[in-house]
Amino acid sequence: MLAIAILAAGKGTRMKSDLPKVLHHLAGKSLIERVLSSTQGLNSTRRLIVVGHQAKRVKGALKNYQDLDFVLQQPQNGTGHAIQQLIPKLKGFKGELLVLNGDVPLLKERTLSSLLKFHKESDASVTFLSASLDSPTGYGRVFTNQSGLVQEIIEERDCNNEQRKNKLINAGIYCFNWLQLLDILNSLSSQNSQKEIYLTDTISLLKKALHFEVDDPFEVTGINDRYQLSECEYYIQKKLKSFWMARGVSFVDPISCTLSEDSSFGTDVIIEPQTHFRGKCNIGNHCHLGPSSVITNSNLADNVLAIHSFINEARIGENTSIGPFAHIRPETNISENSKIGNFVEIKKSFIGEGTKINHLSYVGDSTLGNNINIGAGTITANFDGKNKHRTLIGDHSKTGANSVLVAPIKIGSNVTIGAGSTISKDIQDESLVVERSKTIIRNKSKK
Ligand code: UD1
Ligand code: CA
Repeated sequence: MLAIAILAAGKGTRMKSDLPKVLHHLAGKSLIERVLSSTQGLNSTRRLIVVGHQAKRVKGALKNYQDLDFVLQQPQNGTGHAIQQLIPKLKGFKGELLVLNGDVPLLKERTLSSLLKFHKESDASVTFLSASLDSPTGYGRVFTNQSGLVQEIIEERDCNNEQRKNKLINAGIYCFNWLQLLDILNSLSSQNSQKEIYLTDTISLLKKALHFEVDDPFEVTGINDRYQLSECEYYIQKKLKSFWMARGVSFVDPISCTLSEDSSFGTDVIIEPQTHFRGKCNIGNHCHLGPSSVITNSNLADNVLAIHSFINEARIGENTSIGPFAHIRPETNISENSKIGNFVEIKKSFIGEGTKINHLSYVGDSTLGNNINIGAGTITANFDGKNKHRTLIGDHSKTGANSVLVAPIKIGSNVTIGAGSTISKDIQDESLVVERSKTIIRNKSKK
């Protein structure tokens, strides 16, 4: 039986932040969510999260995870003290306890499975992940005897100069035999430079302590400050971009672009500088995106162009061009062969095939048919101060420049609206409509 405990009660003092450390983000996901996802497939009977500093906020951020069991640590008196809080929760439990620091976000599930396997096969009291680092600053150092058993972990602060030279570090991920840990858990002291109860002090008290060195030391990077956070972000981004480059995506200036892990790209996609993908985006083949576009939770079919634009929670059909300077907002569905031009905002609307909205328009809460031409400056007036109303426009209709369509309104097919009209009545198919006051021209010099 396997129980998992994630330590997430600390403040993260070195982050200098109002936000608890484990809620800081890397490539769009919080550190704690990343740790959780590395334990997703491990077949555990339960997942416990130790919370303390801003416990409510941390719990709130994880409200979508149904299986989590939160344990309060108050005050936060160190990682060993955090695990002591599990004692009442784990009454009668007999299996292995996998402990993860909530600030080690790059761990792979595969590595955890290997750790568990190694731990079981070697029948150890505890096995923890270690790494050999060229610059081990900030980590606890691991000391072994000749037969490879771990004798102790000494925190960097408590090391003497000689001990500090040891490059073998503790990654903060442990698999304990719970009953053996329980035997010694309450005998930890806080005689160290931080006056805290350290989980790492259990190592020298347990019968058989082993370490399991990871292949890729970067995987166990702990985040203590913003510099480490930015290094991890850089690492994730670099990996994502190389992955997609190998699959046929070009980045003109990769460093200036960011991707999310949940986005996917077709082949022959060209991504220009300063272009960002957030959440879950599906990008088709032959798209040309950027410079300077932000695409969030959207699906783009093949051959879409988007320049200097924001596209958020939208679907864009093939051969459609967006921008420059367009804002496509949530619940928008733009069909193929359409053209959305500069300074156009579209919200919660369906746009039919081949429809053009080329300049300076707002289209909100609307359903537009096929092959419509929306003239420059056309506005759907969808809000009456209280409620939003819909605008419907049939196929092949044209709105003149500066038309205002006061919703709720239904414009038929093949309608032409004269420039400058404010239309607040439904218009039949095949109509020409102009709503405009009479032009008055007077000669200014005559009295
Ligand atoms: C810890 C280890 C160190 C290891 C490093 C790996 C200890 C004493 N030291 O150091 O050997 O090299 O991780 O990254 O464990 N937390 C609580 N309650 C507390 C204190 C901390 O839940 O009272 C949580 C924090 O929220 C964090 C995790 O435990 O997620 C680690 O705490 P942190 O203070 O970052 O430990 P390190 O100094 O990095
Ligand atoms: Ca840490």
